[in-house]
Amino acid sequence: MPAEKSEELARGLAGVTVADTEMSFIDGEAGVLRYRGIPIEDLAENASYEEVVYLLRQGELPTATQLDEFKANLVKCCRTVPDEVIDAVRHFPSGAHPMAILRTAVSLLGLHDPGAEVETRTANEAKATQLMAGIPTLIALYERVRNGQEPVPPSQELGHAANFLYMLTGEDPNEVAVRAINTYLVLLADHGFNASTFTARTIASTESDMYSAITGAIGTLKGPLHGGANERVMKSLFEIESPDKAKAWVDQTLDKGQRIMGFGHRVYKTLDPRARILRQYAEALAEEPDVGKWVDVAIVVADAAEERLSAKGIWPNVDFYSAPVLYSAGIPVDQFTPIFVMSRVAGWTAHVLEQQADNRLIRPRAKYVGPREQPYVPMGERA
Ligand code: ACO
Repeated sequence: MPAEKSEELARGLAGVTVADTEMSFIDGEAGVLRYRGIPIEDLAENASYEEVVYLLRQGELPTATQLDEFKANLVKCCRTVPDEVIDAVRHFPSGAHPMAILRTAVSLLGLHDPGAEVETRTANEAKATQLMAGIPTLIALYERVRNGQEPVPPSQELGHAANFLYMLTGEDPNEVAVRAINTYLVLLADHGFNASTFTARTIASTESDMYSAITGAIGTLKGPLHGGANERVMKSLFEIESPDKAKAWVDQTLDKGQRIMGFGHRVYKTLDPRARILRQYAEALAEEPDVGKWVDVAIVVADAAEERLSAKGIWPNVDFYSAPVLYSAGIPVDQFTPIFVMSRVAGWTAHVLEQQADNRLIRPRAKYVGPREQPYVPMGERA
């Protein structure tokens, strides 16, 4: 007989506060997100991803000189990954999920970083920079290799979003796609103590290294209840096929007691502010060939699902509108969650630095609800 669940526990740590952070302010009732006090709307409109990484890590926006230095360092030190890593990725099993590939490749990157075990603030910032600059290279590398193409070496001139698209396709990226990817990266860079950030901080709290923390965080983000939802949303849109079938699909899904991917959030009980921005982006794509149809399907799904679920506090989350926006930028559907990694590595690494600056081992307890005592029964006497 299964043991009875404890009533008084905060299942899934819902509502439990476990640390102070200076990174993201979130008001889940009002739908507000600010990085270091700056509204996400202003950052999405005006900032480059590199600026946001600097802001999260250093606590203030960079001056023009500081930003130039930061970007130059990124390009110089860290966009190129070691040949040993490239060779290994070429031999990874074809057909593996890109998140499993990325999790393993990031761990491998740590293996080839001579400074991986050096635990000073400077060394850990260098590792954070290596991860931020190296992850887009790893994602593009696998995409090229699995399609039988040669990897494209990183550009020395392009910004973060543009360089990623260039490595993916080998062509000069168009401005609309660069802007879409940059905005996406800005919007998802940090979000309090979500499951993957909590994982990263838990690993860091044992005084393990930065690469271990980020590898663990990638494994956590992979799950469909967290970052893996963006891929599932796009698959749902494909399954629905056309806007006229979308409302019936929503009704059938909910009537069967199933969840709609890209809906619901542990913290937001109103519309996620990032989803609001991405919906505007998606709507602007409605006239685009190849993409417009999926935007139309997404909007009918969103409106029909909101009608049935919003009274319960279930609204579209950031992953819902991410799907058509990433699709419009030419990102393969199973690479959506790796692009989430490419963004969230900013928050993860900044949180690891914050944890390291004032560390205490994270070690909660479980309430034992199994049998208190029972005898050891020898093998021959067991039923
Ligand atoms: N579709 C339909 N109903 C839902 C959904 C959904 N997507 N999400 C929650 N509900 C319902 C539940 O069935 C439950 O209903 P009940 O009270 O009648 O039983 C109620 O809302 C509360 O659900 P919980 O599971 O308790 O909410 P929780 O905070 O634990 O879960 C989660 C949050 C995991 C995000 C959930 O909303 C979900 O599964 N969403 C779909 C996956 C998804 O989009 N994940 C991405 C989240 S954003 C991110 O990680 C970047």
